[in-house]
Amino acid sequence: MRSQICIIGGGPSGLLLSHILHQAGLDTIVLERQSRDHVLSRIRAGVLEDGTVALLRQAGLGARMDREGFAHSGTYLAARNRGFRVDFIDLIGREVLVYGQTEVTADLYAARDAAGGIVIHNAADVAIHDARGTPYITYAKDGSTHRVDCDWVVGCDGFHGVSRRTIPPDVLRSVEKVYPFGWLGVLSRTAPANHELIYANHERGFALASMRNDRLSRYYIQAPVDDPVERWSDDAFWDELRRRLPADVAETMETGPSIEKSIAPLRSFVAEPMRWNRLCLVGDAAHIVPPTGAKGLNLAVSDVHYLSQALIAHYAGDDGPIDGYSDRALARVWKAVRFSWWFTSLMHRFPGDSALFDQKMQEAEIDYLEHSRAAQTALAENYVGLPY
Ligand code: APR
Ligand code: PHB
Repeated sequence: MRSQICIIGGGPSGLLLSHILHQAGLDTIVLERQSRDHVLSRIRAGVLEDGTVALLRQAGLGARMDREGFAHSGTYLAARNRGFRVDFIDLIGREVLVYGQTEVTADLYAARDAAGGIVIHNAADVAIHDARGTPYITYAKDGSTHRVDCDWVVGCDGFHGVSRRTIPPDVLRSVEKVYPFGWLGVLSRTAPANHELIYANHERGFALASMRNDRLSRYYIQAPVDDPVERWSDDAFWDELRRRLPADVAETMETGPSIEKSIAPLRSFVAEPMRWNRLCLVGDAAHIVPPTGAKGLNLAVSDVHYLSQALIAHYAGDDGPIDGYSDRALARVWKAVRFSWWFTSLMHRFPGDSALFDQKMQEAEIDYLEHSRAAQTALAENYVGLPY
């Protein structure tokens, strides 16, 4: 089999890249090791930056998003059980859209199907060969080994994928920060506690009130990352969440049975470069952010924006953009990694001897944020999304 571009990974970044390149007349093949149902069963955040929304609309993927998504013109921060609103529209004239990543991925699959896109599921043992020269890919499926010859390989295969590991250790440079806590998340068929998200700092730990729609709420509390989920009954979760949220919200919020409950670790990770010969990295394959700033999907989308432009230019005879892809993508990645680290550092309880002092510093900064338009503008610019 032959294709101009072979994309490893059928998550949001792989599917979006495939779709945009298809629209530009380039042929791609997507190799996904899981089934489509498995990919679509993942529970993931869905706060879309305005740049992500614009790019999805431009790619013809905005119909259901605009119909079912919820525009949020602000968000709430809270400390010591009292909240205040950061008004994105008043501060920067832009806003975010709340629309689940699972829905984005479902829309992408529908678009690839409609366009006759090639997405091969259950592709096992994907391996990249001759990435120093003209690459080819092998994978196993239905008891046979298959080969894809291509001009370019794009690793959209997430943090645990094969593509980043293909870059030689003397070329690849990475940095990582693992946070000393996790997020215990619950999904419940209840009305959201608030019409917009609430990020709460509390001496007992961080809490987040989010939603998927007006009858599907998503909540998180900071918890020890090695906490067994079974230790948390629904009642224990609701009690702890209400202790950390603003009092007026906690008193009136609807609780109910959890339909999903899980603990996830938090880390910051960046691998450089994002291109090595004919192999390029996109999204979680190259970088991971703590979910506090909701940047994971949005960074994958801006990588796709830069790389799709670069590959289209390459096939038009201009190699400037592809030569500059890694630097251009990383410039935006590092700023989003910084914001996600800053917001995580501001809102979570950190262990250690200076825990009380650190808590006071956080409360002072949140108090400053509440009363400073300049500070809120900086938060809004980064949360809603820096320009591409
Ligand atoms: N071969 C083929 N497919 C693979 C391999 C492999 N060796 N390894 C991983 N995959 C697939 C995974 O099954 C997954 O479907 O690659 C896909 C990677 O998708 P994501 O992990 O969703 O990463 P990405 O597309 O970059 O999207 C980033 O997703 O994980 C969230 O928080 C993240 O919101 C961010 C977004
Ligand atoms: C979510 O709804 O899952 C969510 C929202 C915002 C975040 C993180 C997660 O910052």
